[in-house]
Amino acid sequence: MIKAPRGTRDLLPPDTALWNFVEAAVRDVFRAYNFHETRTPIFESTELFARGVGEETDIVTKEMFTWEDPQQRYVQLRDSYIEASNAFKEGRPPSGKLVPLELLAGTQSLTLRPENTAGIVRAYIEHKLWDRGLNKFFSIGPMFRRERPQKGRYRQFYQIDAEVIGPPSSGSESPARDAEILELVATLLDRVGITGWTLQLNSVGCPVDRAKFNEALKQALAPVIDKMCVDCQRRAVTNPLRVFDCKVPEDQPIIATLPTISQFLDEACRAHYEEVKSILNAVQIPYVENPRLVRGLDYYTRTAFEFTHGSLGAQNAILGGGRYDGLSKALGGPAAPGIGFAIGEDRLVLALAASVESVYRKPDVYIAPLGPGLNGEAARLARELRRHDLVVELGDGSFRLKKSFEAADKMGARYILIVGENEVAANAFALKNLASGEQVTVPRSELAERILRK
Ligand code: HAM
Repeated sequence: MIKAPRGTRDLLPPDTALWNFVEAAVRDVFRAYNFHETRTPIFESTELFARGVGEETDIVTKEMFTWEDPQQRYVQLRDSYIEASNAFKEGRPPSGKLVPLELLAGTQSLTLRPENTAGIVRAYIEHKLWDRGLNKFFSIGPMFRRERPQKGRYRQFYQIDAEVIGPPSSGSESPARDAEILELVATLLDRVGITGWTLQLNSVGCPVDRAKFNEALKQALAPVIDKMCVDCQRRAVTNPLRVFDCKVPEDQPIIATLPTISQFLDEACRAHYEEVKSILNAVQIPYVENPRLVRGLDYYTRTAFEFTHGSLGAQNAILGGGRYDGLSKALGGPAAPGIGFAIGEDRLVLALAASVESVYRKPDVYIAPLGPGLNGEAARLARELRRHDLVVELGDGSFRLKKSFEAADKMGARYILIVGENEVAANAFALKNLASGEQVTVPRSELAERILRK
């Protein structure tokens, strides 16, 4: 038997109704905050993530699905080959430029996106979106990371991603944007019925602060590093900040003694952070400061945050995000401060209090034609009733009535509508409530209204 690959899942009904419930609510909330949808490719150049997310991050060093893609070269090869052989057959010199063989050996490195921020910033630069001022984007789609699967952690998972990006003149750097994003998240979680979340907040400063912090970390790590895991020994040299991503239990007591970034923030970063907190207080969004929260991606500057939820066990981050004021420049674009977040939709659905039953819509009515000649009449009725926004399921004229009743019951239909010769002649149909057993004859013109009435 062929099974779905490790770390991937089939999302099937009725569970998909919960996903649709979440996505519809999220779209409503984004609309109120003037966010608009983007759909960028599911794969991008590997270089985008290496430069964007960071060479030394776990995502880039261990988790990406990357392949060498020969396709473009193959097309060139074939075209050149066909032209060369045609020319040979026709006894003429080949037209156009033939691709020399040594060029054909090349490939392009592509990667399934492990996250969406780098792709959005790539699109911002590629389409010169600074002309539009402040851009407020959201997107919903799959991401891919080769992680060890467990509850709440998959290799294909879904993110609801939001990004605010624009030139400095658009106000993209303002702490008001940070606070708006955090308040949006709180509204969104409330809206889908998630209670008991914790907002963990920190500022990771700017590159100047980071350089000072990394130096201090190097010094603090020097006497203890040989007691730490091999990954940390490497990080201590290449990018000490990433030591905070370490999950090895034995390393945690050492990490707890390391200096924190808050001691190294310059005046401007400190003031920015204070203003974010003061607006959060004004809109009454509770938060907990976590000076060790640095997030596992290199592009973050200043505000960094996570929303955690107790019901999720080890993978307790429903979402994470922060500022990335230097990312556009790092990818070769103009200065474009930005801030965003990504919700792990799989985790959000796991934490939902709403039950599938409350959001899964079952058929309002099952139409049972009594005899093969009546399929057309049944289809006509279904068409009329569906126009009234009723959920209608159709039986088949070859079914015996008992089989239609069983089918209607199995799918949880509220009513069964019987379409026999006599009913068609009278233009009135037997409508039976499957829960109460009550049966009435209803004129065609009153059917929809009768079924809509609960
Ligand atoms: P991230 O923290 O890597 O940030 O991922 C965001 C969220 O995606 C996590 O909090 C978690 O809920 C979910 N997630 C991550 N990996 C998995 C997995 N293997 N299985 C299930 N869920 C997972 C980012 O991706 C940034 N791009 C967020 C951002 C946007 N920052 C600024 N803008």
